[in-house]
Amino acid sequence: MSDNQFIDHKYDVIIVGAGGAGLRATLGCAESGLKTACISKVFPTRSHTVAAQGGISAALGNMGEDDWRWHMYDTVKGADWLGDQDAIEYLCKNSSEAVYELEHLGVPFSRTEDGKIYQRPFGGMTTNYGEGPAAQRTCAAADRTGHAILHTLYGKSISESADFFIEYFVIDLIMSDDKECVGVIALSMEDGKIHRFQSTQTILATGGYGRAYFSATSAHTCTGDGSGMVLRAGLPLQDMEFVQFHPTGIYGAGCLITEGCRGEGGYLVNSEGERFMERYAPKAKDLASRDVVSRAMTIEIQEGRGVGKEKDHIYLHLDHIDANVLAERLPGISESAKIFAGVDVTREPIPVLPTVHYNMGGIPTNYKGEVLNPTDQDEDNIVPGLMAVGEAACASVHGANRLGSNSLIDLVVLGKAAALRCSEVVKPGVSKATFPKDAGNQAYKRLEKFRNANGPIPTSELRLNMQKTMQNNCAVFRTAEILEEGIKLISEVFSDLKDIGIKDRSLIWNSDLIEALEFDNMIIQAMVTMEGAAERKESRGSHAREDFPERDDIEWMKHTLTWVNEKGEIKVGYRGVHEYTLTNDVSYIPPKERVY
Ligand code: FUM
Repeated sequence: MSDNQFIDHKYDVIIVGAGGAGLRATLGCAESGLKTACISKVFPTRSHTVAAQGGISAALGNMGEDDWRWHMYDTVKGADWLGDQDAIEYLCKNSSEAVYELEHLGVPFSRTEDGKIYQRPFGGMTTNYGEGPAAQRTCAAADRTGHAILHTLYGKSISESADFFIEYFVIDLIMSDDKECVGVIALSMEDGKIHRFQSTQTILATGGYGRAYFSATSAHTCTGDGSGMVLRAGLPLQDMEFVQFHPTGIYGAGCLITEGCRGEGGYLVNSEGERFMERYAPKAKDLASRDVVSRAMTIEIQEGRGVGKEKDHIYLHLDHIDANVLAERLPGISESAKIFAGVDVTREPIPVLPTVHYNMGGIPTNYKGEVLNPTDQDEDNIVPGLMAVGEAACASVHGANRLGSNSLIDLVVLGKAAALRCSEVVKPGVSKATFPKDAGNQAYKRLEKFRNANGPIPTSELRLNMQKTMQNNCAVFRTAEILEEGIKLISEVFSDLKDIGIKDRSLIWNSDLIEALEFDNMIIQAMVTMEGAAERKESRGSHAREDFPERDDIEWMKHTLTWVNEKGEIKVGYRGVHEYTLTNDVSYIPPKERVY
């Protein structure tokens, strides 16, 4: 394609993705006077943040004493000491201000009797460095917190005159010859035109790749597109083996039933009517962290104490909670349970099962959102022009396991941090970045290859094979044997990609083509996830190896880096965990046994 066939745009900053992190970054960049564009494949208020239910963590102390240092301690422990403590300090220290900012922008938080923001308990959140009772730290707008935040941020971003390119599918990054990111190339799905966006900074806020699995709480749009682009640009992803299973996806449908249910007093039982979490986490019980609860549920099922005809799930009871409390604080899940499980939560338990929910791994960044391309000389080497935030990024504030409600706070605190960084390093209207010769041509050729693909295998078949493999071979518990089989099966799916067939040849609203591009983004992430899991010979956070049941801090307290080339060959490397804090306001938290 020649240069004049592209529609070209020039911005100080472009943000790809319009979920909570993308919108918070968009808002911050626009507010600081930078010419800002946000590009999204879905209408912004349909981004997956809309589905976040239970809340956003911040040590406001509205419901009892709290301290951001306690929040930091819980986050480091929840992360099983794989998190970068400088980034975790930044997150927790800035969380209260971020929530008050949202309140002032208009987020309709639920309220206490005296008008303060309502906060509920969530798993792994404690007081006094784990010594005190559970913390009520999760700020909630009933059980529709993400919905409230996303709508508020979108409204505010347009009032700050950021430009939005809605229903544009970004195909790839445009990198200069000296490996600087200078923009992206995108397809306008409405009219089939191809656009190139030149920018001084490009921020990827493209979310996770939960849909690489068969059963996920993630929307069908969660295909990790930005991370796919990063791998294709020859850059690594980090800690991809850490995949979070949320304990309470609705059995069969996979829809999320918020952890807020257990925060409000709900509990899990097995087929013997036993509240089994008391055995696995004597202190925190049902409010232990997610990896612990998901493993306990899986063991109960494996040992024959699952519920239902096939003894393959667990019951979540809310029926002992006052119906008025359920109606006020958990209206959304009451409706989902009725629609997807046929259950009246005031009378019957909800059938639930651990379900893929979140990717701790992603594009390696520092806490300012700058993307890292570690070298032998500099593990924190920055890729000029490229940033990442939200679930797409690995900052790493969640390490090996994220605590519930730490995602929404990550989106807004680190989304804002990226905007602050842009306002420091980008001079409005003075872009030094220029497109290299033939910018975007390779990406365009890739698009055309898929559009004209006439092999015998439809995308849906390839996708299902990938999803089943990930679900069976890279699940809650892992062994060398299962992972080795997974590597073989997933690479077979990758090699079948050459036989993909697309039926629709148009460029306008071609969902067949978009699904193929999304699959192409997911399969390489599935491959590096499996490889990283096979390589990591220890158990830490969400990565539970039956053959290596202990955490091994001597050998494995390090981040996994994975690269993949066009042939599907994977390279694995490592990068040190930041075992230091950002300031002297708090001390480094050394590793210890993780019990709840
Ligand atoms: O359970 C939930 O409401 C999910 C929250 C989260 O993943 O942070």
